[in-house]
Amino acid sequence: MRRTRPVVAIDGPAGAGKTTVTRRVAERLGYTLVDTGALYRTVALAATRAGLSWADTAAVGELALGLAGRGAIRFDASPGGGGHVLLDGEDVSAAIRTQQVAEGASQVSAIPAVREALLELQRQAGRDGGVVLEGRDIGTVVFPDAEAKFFLTASTAVRAERRFVELRDKGAPADLARVTEEVRARDERDTMRPIAPLRQAEDAVLVDSSELDIEQVVERIVGHALGVAERLAQSSS
Ligand code: DC
Repeated sequence: MRRTRPVVAIDGPAGAGKTTVTRRVAERLGYTLVDTGALYRTVALAATRAGLSWADTAAVGELALGLAGRGAIRFDASPGGGGHVLLDGEDVSAAIRTQQVAEGASQVSAIPAVREALLELQRQAGRDGGVVLEGRDIGTVVFPDAEAKFFLTASTAVRAERRFVELRDKGAPADLARVTEEVRARDERDTMRPIAPLRQAEDAVLVDSSELDIEQVVERIVGHALGVAERLAQSSS
């Protein structure tokens, strides 16, 4: 199907500013925001509630396929519902934001059956275009045909520093050397995993936020996406 408005894919590692950037880009373009990490977090939460260990790949995979099969995980598509995720009708958007669930999401996202279970849901959410999807494998696996792809990254040192400041501001005890090591270990796990590893799509625009502030990053992405949107609109009229 030819889209009249683009699918905008924003992939990249944790700590590059993806969440804030994606939200602002979606606002500026007037597009729907789809936070795909929230789906992996919801599976991790559902597993905990079902009394499963995240390391039990077979059981968690089966759980995810079951949840997706009966439509138990949904994005709230109502006006103003942007970014909210429902699990069996319950809004779990706040419950999935804990550090513990983030750890679970990182583990369950490496399970092939979990990725398979969530694939269709993501494709449906973006199919018609006019969406900004944030994730790790949007431009490579979920929407290889996305019209506008970005790979947003920053140096390990910058991402570790941002995470350190975030923890400190929350009043959590943090040690920069340790946070740096955690960022490095997570990058390694995400880029080395055999299924849907984190990597830049060949046709993605690389945006390095190490030396840019959020507004500059947003400007760059919006500028490029608007150019793509204009070309699409022209070619479809
Ligand atoms: O972006 P986030 O922190 O909410 O993502 C939670 C976890 O899910 C993270 O460990 C990476 C994983 N993830 C993924 O593997 N693929 C995606 N498209 C989105 C997130």
